[in-house]
Amino acid sequence: MNKIYQNMNELCVAGANLFVEEAQKAIVARGRFSVALSGGSTPRRLFEEIAKKEWHEKLDWQRIFVFWGDERFVPADDAQSNQKMARESLLRYVPIPEENIFPIPFAETPIESAEKYEEVLKQFFPDSWPQIDLILLGLGPDGHTASLFPGSDALNEETRWVCPSKTKVPGPERITLTFPVLNRAGLVCFMVTGKEKAEMVKQILKPVSTELNYPAQRIQPLTGQLIWLLDQAAAQLIS
Ligand code: 6PG
Repeated sequence: MNKIYQNMNELCVAGANLFVEEAQKAIVARGRFSVALSGGSTPRRLFEEIAKKEWHEKLDWQRIFVFWGDERFVPADDAQSNQKMARESLLRYVPIPEENIFPIPFAETPIESAEKYEEVLKQFFPDSWPQIDLILLGLGPDGHTASLFPGSDALNEETRWVCPSKTKVPGPERITLTFPVLNRAGLVCFMVTGKEKAEMVKQILKPVSTELNYPAQRIQPLTGQLIWLLDQAAAQLIS
């Protein structure tokens, strides 16, 4: 399902509403809500929206558990840290216990960070593959999502839940949840804004062939739902 909004503000209000609805549903059904946050610049506005009283007061934050879909291999206080961005724009404003927050650790090496995070997920989801209730994702102009970049080995990972991922763009190595985990989510929500993403949005949502040329095309939840929240600028070639 694709939903197109006039602008970033309207999209973030819709995103906050979706977050609250999914959280309430999961807490009623299973007593807890697990969510994996995305990184990059787009989600910051959404997090700031959810941090507003009118949204966060609707939620029992004791029963909300926060994970990340990917992270840059940097310390938690680094400007490029997805964890830092989420703490600054959301987590510090809501009454969530620190023990409910599961950042991707900055270990000695990216592989060690990935292994440690897989352990964290295995403790939270002991029975089988993790079924995270809501996974938020973004989209890169090259068609990457989370830190699953075109051409990276991480694309072909079928057994590990978390793995390191190299990016062609200059910058720190990454740690990312793998497709088997992302595609087991209850709901995957892409949030994409800006005209620079329009061509890739068209390639993915209006493909000319059945080939899966871009990593984001391989987000196909096994049993869960998939939704795209787009602003007019990002949707201009499909609407
Ligand atoms: C990251 C993200 C990445 C992001 C896209 C879009 O850590 O950078 O998880 O997948 O969602 O690169 O980034 P923007 O929102 O900044 O355009």
